Amino acid sequence: MSFEKFEIEGHPVRWFLELPSTNTYLKEHPELLDEAGQVVVTSHQTAGRGRRGRLYWSLPGKNLTFSLVLHPECPQAQLTLYALWSGIAVVRSLEVLGVAPRLKWPNDVLIGNRKVCGILAESVWTKQGNCPALILGIGINVLGQPQEFPAELWSMITTVAASGAKEVTPETLLPQVLQALDAVDRQFREQGMATLREEWLQRSGMLGNAVRFEQQEGWKTGVVAGIGPEGALLLELTSGEVISHISGDVEWTNKEE
Ligand code: BTN
Repeated sequence: MSFEKFEIEGHPVRWFLELPSTNTYLKEHPELLDEAGQVVVTSHQTAGRGRRGRLYWSLPGKNLTFSLVLHPECPQAQLTLYALWSGIAVVRSLEVLGVAPRLKWPNDVLIGNRKVCGILAESVWTKQGNCPALILGIGINVLGQPQEFPAELWSMITTVAASGAKEVTPETLLPQVLQALDAVDRQFREQGMATLREEWLQRSGMLGNAVRFEQQEGWKTGVVAGIGPEGALLLELTSGEVISHISGDVEWTNKEE
């Protein structure tokens, strides 16, 4: 597996033509986790991993698939917040291209009701430091049409280009997303979570909406009441009780909303 090595926006980058998974590559090369800011990117990810053991599908040369190493220096419980905030960075970098993305908890980015970006954040303990390193894996459908993906995904996904953005490629988008991630990282370190939480809620439009959410016992419904201090989705049940939803899928009760 050969790669090219260069810098983008001050980040050391390893760019592979093909790789099974950029997150897995970093896990298999723990020496790269010692350097915050390291980026691994591939033009064709052949076995991309999604949340909850799912497969993340990408089109050769048309998706932006990369992983960034972060050293968050925050309590481990707050690492989930980083995954949330990284969605804000993706939204900020896509909207300057003239599309209207929004967030869906925990960190999917949608255009309309279709997913355009997925994020897989994994923490790994290294020899250095008393906080784990965070591998932030981001996959954005940049070029092509949904019909180029497997048929079962057609109605669920879109691409940046199919949503009307002009003159975008995975290569031009990467520096913009890295810049936006650096800005969000700085904002979190300097100002804490308050302003980012506001921005997340505003960009998701989920506050006050009825949703279905998946728990061990099955699907339940509730109304979104906010984001908790550690990134959980706060849901008000019909009983009035507010619960923290930490993992498991969430869907709008009315998919057209
Ligand atoms: C999801 O939607 O469930 C998360 C998808 C995350 C995909 C990205 S692509 C780059 C990085 N490498 C992986 O194997 N997965 C993440």
